[in-house]
Amino acid sequence: MGESYINFNPADIPDTSFIDIPKNPLDRIIGQEEAVRYASIAAKQRRNLLLVGPPGVGKSMIAQAIALSIPRPREELRVVHNPIQPERPFVEVKSYDEVKAEKLEASATEGVLIDPESAPLHVAERLGYRCQKCGHYSLPTETVCPSCGASKIQTGQAGPFGDVFNVLGAAFGVQNSNERISSTVKVGDREEVIVYERAGDKIRVLDQKTLERKRKMEKKSPSKTIVPIDRNPFVLATGASETELLGDVRHDPYGGHPQLGTLPYERVIAGAIHEAHEGVLFIDEISHLGDLQRYILTAMQEKVFPISGRNPQSAGASVRVDNVPCDFVLVAACNVQDLQYILSALRSRIVGNGYEILMKVSIPDNQENRIKYLQFIAQEIANDGKIPHMSMEAADLIIQEGKRRAKLIDNRENALTLRLRELGGLIRASGDIAVFAGSKLIEPEHVKEALEIYLPVEEKIRKVYGNFEAAVTSEYTISQRGDSYYQYYNRFPDDETYG
Ligand SMILES: Nc1ncnc2c1ncn2[C@@H]1O[C@H](COP(=O)(O)OP(=O)(O)O)[C@@H](O)[C@H]1O
Ligand SMILES: [Mg+2]
Repeated sequence: MGESYINFNPADIPDTSFIDIPKNPLDRIIGQEEAVRYASIAAKQRRNLLLVGPPGVGKSMIAQAIALSIPRPREELRVVHNPIQPERPFVEVKSYDEVKAEKLEASATEGVLIDPESAPLHVAERLGYRCQKCGHYSLPTETVCPSCGASKIQTGQAGPFGDVFNVLGAAFGVQNSNERISSTVKVGDREEVIVYERAGDKIRVLDQKTLERKRKMEKKSPSKTIVPIDRNPFVLATGASETELLGDVRHDPYGGHPQLGTLPYERVIAGAIHEAHEGVLFIDEISHLGDLQRYILTAMQEKVFPISGRNPQSAGASVRVDNVPCDFVLVAACNVQDLQYILSALRSRIVGNGYEILMKVSIPDNQENRIKYLQFIAQEIANDGKIPHMSMEAADLIIQEGKRRAKLIDNRENALTLRLRELGGLIRASGDIAVFAGSKLIEPEHVKEALEIYLPVEEKIRKVYGNFEAAVTSEYTISQRGDSYYQYYNRFPDDETYG
């Protein structure tokens, strides 16, 4: 794992389109072998991970790759109405099999669809499919028969005995209308109710058994799914607010009034910690969470966390669901300099059941690693999709730039930088220039031009002014001098010499 299988001699290929890109996302992460190895272990063993390193070295890539290799969730989380105390809804955990069985049951209450032509004539007429006058069939939305022009709308009921069997229908809550009618059929020597409903260009038929099942289902205590079974097990919680992280109960202007308002259980919203149940919770720049880190710690300790209304002004504040499961693997990322702002109890929790990994910022400049760099270039081009591949000579310039940056930023001799996000930007800029020039490949001149514009502004300043400090001083004194163009113009705005 983590070892790139890519093996080729750069001298044998003309451009980067000849490089295969690994299928496994973990193999696309170059240079971070140790991090990738422990990430694989963490995924298999459900351990936590703290990735420490500067921006753009592959921390998010690792977190995402982990999520792809963890098993699919097996539990669905719901909140159930509590009729005795509506402000304390229950949490309900449904297994995969139960959810599946329920779906089957629900589909068993859907009845069967038939063509209007195969329904009894009076049913097809009553529901507006068949013209009473000429017998032509059309959609019930057409109120006038397209064949003979007669109105299809039936006026008045069919006499006092016309709907006599609807007494049975009424027992099942079916009110005859143009949309749905009940009738009866003989089953053996018993009369059974049967309901016909409009369903687009079909008619839905519900027999007595189906109606009974439907009834039973509707009687169950109402519930709301807050974390569905078919969810993405990778949950990004970077920069999340308290409510996004921990869940909330929405406000209801009618305060859950039984007739006017929405019942409390319907207003419950899961937080990222609950959505990550059985999955991965990824928090980039975890130190920026500040005080919220405490809640993460509690959630990790208890593996359950209540959902309550977090705005004290809101009607949701009085609602609470206890013991909502949140058994997640935490993958957190952090800069070296922010390490001190991570809650120490949280850090020891991570280390107590997981790994802290220091990401590399560069790799030695050798043939093997240059090949990895080429793989990286090919990946960036494939991911972008809008730029052409790169000639080997141009790719060599990217490698040179990677080497220059390792020295410039991290003071590493004979190394290639792993701060690859920015290098990816350079590749894209080169690609845009190549596209603009109508070139089939990214050539050295395109990379050279991109390098000019792609320099960080501090480096441009250094080029123009000699060094950064000189630039600051010289700009400072110019603005202090009373005779600068800027000052002059502002002092004498009407001066004719500037007119
Ligand atoms: N080690 C790496 N191998 C391959 N590509 C990388 C690597 N590190 C960064 N990149 C490129 O830079 C982009 C940003 O990386 P990311 O994982 O978001 O960095 P971080 O989370 O450390 O800030 C990635 O999408 C990828 O294109
Ligand atoms: Mg990131």
